[in-house]
Amino acid sequence: MSLYSISVFLHIVGALGLFAGIALEQVGLRGLRRASTIAQAREWVRVLGGLRRVDAPSGLTILATGIYMIVTRWGEQAWAGLAILGMVVMAVLGVAVTGRRAGAIAKELPLDDGPVPQSLRSRLDDSVLPASASARAAIALGIVFNMSLKPSAPLAAAVLLVALAIGVAVGMIRRQTDQGSNPNARIANGAFPVRSKP
Ligand code: HEM
Repeated sequence: MSLYSISVFLHIVGALGLFAGIALEQVGLRGLRRASTIAQAREWVRVLGGLRRVDAPSGLTILATGIYMIVTRWGEQAWAGLAILGMVVMAVLGVAVTGRRAGAIAKELPLDDGPVPQSLRSRLDDSVLPASASARAAIALGIVFNMSLKPSAPLAAAVLLVALAIGVAVGMIRRQTDQGSNPNARIANGAFPVRSKP
């Protein structure tokens, strides 16, 4: 057993952690969109707020072991450089989009429980959040593809670009289909007009 093989193991453990964070983000965003009370929304915001505790150590483990393996065995490789770039894009999306928007929702949550107010509903249904989450998931999958096949620079770049485009598209389509089956969003969009009492 060499230090290199331990690095490969830790690298893959880091990748598993990253995908656990991606799954939590997807579940958290879905729960937030479906929340009908302030207490439910607060719980899901808490899940999203805790993502950094999974993402950051996983990302650092991947990076440290990845750089070690590149330096000791592989030398300069386009797929590795592009993986670093992909990780930077994932981190920026995580902090600047999910983190910032979840923080804004947390600040707007009233202290008392009750139904989610109309003003907050539009924030919970924000289409940028699922698009960003799917883009992060797709970039991570694209990186795993490149890690496994170690393709040439143009192919590795094309894989990440296509993954990004598919991720954003899937996020937007899923948001629309989810909205169609989400009674909270349908009420907010006027699908069930509230009749005033005679
Ligand atoms: C989201 C980021 C990343 C994920 C999910 C990821 C995932 C993986 C996976 C699953 C493998 C195993 C592939 C195989 O054995 O065929 C692998 C291998 C590898 N990764 Fe990454 N990786 C990421 C980022 C990086 C970065 C940034 C670097 C370098 C700076 C890197 C360097 C390597 C190297 C050198 C191998 C080859 C190990 C070997 O086959 O001996 N990875 N990666």
